Amino acid sequence: MCGIVGYVGDTKTKDVLLAGLARLEYRGYDSAGIAVTTAAGEVDVRKRSGKLARLAQLLEDDPIHPGTTGIGHTRWATHGGPTDENAHPHLSEDGRVALIHNGIIENFAQLREQLGEASFKSETDTEVVAVLLGSEVKKQGDLEAAFRTVVTQLEGTFTLLATSADEPGKVVSARHHSPLVVGIGDGENFLGSDIAAFVEYTRRAVAIDDDNIAVITADEVRVTDFAGNPLPFEEFEIAWDPAAADKGGWPSFMAKEISEQPEAVANTIRGRITPEGVVIPELSELGDEFLQGIERIVVIACGTAAYAGMIGRYAIEEWARIPVEIELSHEFRYRNPIVSEQTLVISISQSGETMDTMMAVKYAKERGAKTISVCNTQSATIPRESDAAIYTHAGPEVSVASTKAFLAQVVALQLFGLHLGRVRGSLDSEAAKRAIAQLETLPEKVSEAVATHDDITQLAKWMSDTRSVLFLGRHVGFPVALEGALKLKEITYIHAEGFAAGELKHGPIALIDHGQPVFVLVPSPRTSPVMHSKVVSNIQEIRARGARVISIVEKGDTATLPYSDDVIRLPLADPMFEPLLQVIPLQWFALELCQAKGLDVDQPRNLAKSVTVE
Ligand code: F6R
Repeated sequence: MCGIVGYVGDTKTKDVLLAGLARLEYRGYDSAGIAVTTAAGEVDVRKRSGKLARLAQLLEDDPIHPGTTGIGHTRWATHGGPTDENAHPHLSEDGRVALIHNGIIENFAQLREQLGEASFKSETDTEVVAVLLGSEVKKQGDLEAAFRTVVTQLEGTFTLLATSADEPGKVVSARHHSPLVVGIGDGENFLGSDIAAFVEYTRRAVAIDDDNIAVITADEVRVTDFAGNPLPFEEFEIAWDPAAADKGGWPSFMAKEISEQPEAVANTIRGRITPEGVVIPELSELGDEFLQGIERIVVIACGTAAYAGMIGRYAIEEWARIPVEIELSHEFRYRNPIVSEQTLVISISQSGETMDTMMAVKYAKERGAKTISVCNTQSATIPRESDAAIYTHAGPEVSVASTKAFLAQVVALQLFGLHLGRVRGSLDSEAAKRAIAQLETLPEKVSEAVATHDDITQLAKWMSDTRSVLFLGRHVGFPVALEGALKLKEITYIHAEGFAAGELKHGPIALIDHGQPVFVLVPSPRTSPVMHSKVVSNIQEIRARGARVISIVEKGDTATLPYSDDVIRLPLADPMFEPLLQVIPLQWFALELCQAKGLDVDQPRNLAKSVTVE
């Protein structure tokens, strides 16, 4: 949450900051602001509540002074509403130090009291740090020394960037449980809360570790601990193509990312299927002996990633015959979970920065568990904290509502399940071959599922006044129902709920009234005849009570036709792979209904991608 960018280089500072903020806006869009430190020795700030476009307009109306050093921020509000005053950057009392922040300063009230007479213009925790830093700079006459003094006084979570009028040509930064990366350029250097901040300018990056400080000038990057001791750092090459993070002619990032799902799946599979079966070289650190001895697997994740985990659970249990539990990361560490050295904890996170998941991973490690991260973002904190990482290769996901990362997460878990099944000898080679053959044809089938868009567009148009939608699924279809409901809630703001189809008669069927739309995920009659007939009965039950039924079926299944108002047909797949197809029309439905209601697809209210506060 909150996007952060810093730059030292030449006079294109304002443009670099604005471009960075545009790429980071998915992290928060309550306000945006930039500060530029000029060679003449002043700090100039422009900031505005609302989306970045309002800041861009302000900069046209009231241009910022040119300079070679600057910081920029896009905010997801925590302390204080989304107003101009609460927007970052915040200034020291004398206006000579500017500071931006991602995270929460938990002891800000004590610090504010400590600062006594100081006057504050905002309600934020961040301004207290800016004022404190300003007073330390005055006392010590040195930005870096003052910054070190301040960061050691802070409690909570933070990434901080600061620049001082007295030291143009330098930005100082620090991280404590919030993300920070450096971009290394030629005669220019960058800081960002993720690589998206500077990916169009450089492919060279350094991930900064917790409790470290990074100082950039145009020609130098220095990393130290909070005491100022120099630390070595390692560069990595950014694999993302900058063009991949552009809309590329699509009306929204979400539409583009739904359409990119065949490649997201193909790229996640690529290189991991060999004539010998599934290979995941990233797991070599853990060793086959450990994999053979695992007694339990706990999957931790939040939101959409947790639903991917629920689907993955069916595959891992089926193929590797190990009990798998799935738990929301933020619940995991508060219930004294039973974790031993034979427990494998798999975290799933697109961003790799979700604070709830990161804390749960740390907790699991402290308790002796081995950890694997399924992650889409290179060198993010969670994979770096984990014993091993299986990267999904979905490419940058910008839309706040996750789509292609979800499919890639499910596929990564399935690859893991197949690998584990073979290593443990619980999966025979014929069954493995059949599953691998299914995986190989998946990108093509996903393409066909993406092509359901036109049918869904019509449906969404007719349903634009709908006030509530229900989703029903059984077995692997149940998490798909939950995900369909989440997609709809988060971007259309209408009531939506997903249910296990069998649970309906235990209460939720009371919700069914005349015209209530219900999407039903129908299992294949070829591979799951018993479940299929149960779901057809569920459809009859809700239909008898007036529901408007939209069935999602495999091609050739005509059993639901007499009881459905609409039918969406998908390619044939084995049960484990059905969810990867079924979810796609539900993603389109959320997107089209959102558009029909005239809402912002990529930036839904109150949300931000990458939730870096607990
Ligand atoms: C919903 C969505 C969220 C995320 C969740 C976890 O569309 O995107 O529910 O799945 O916040 O985020 P990551 O995967 O980055 O840990």
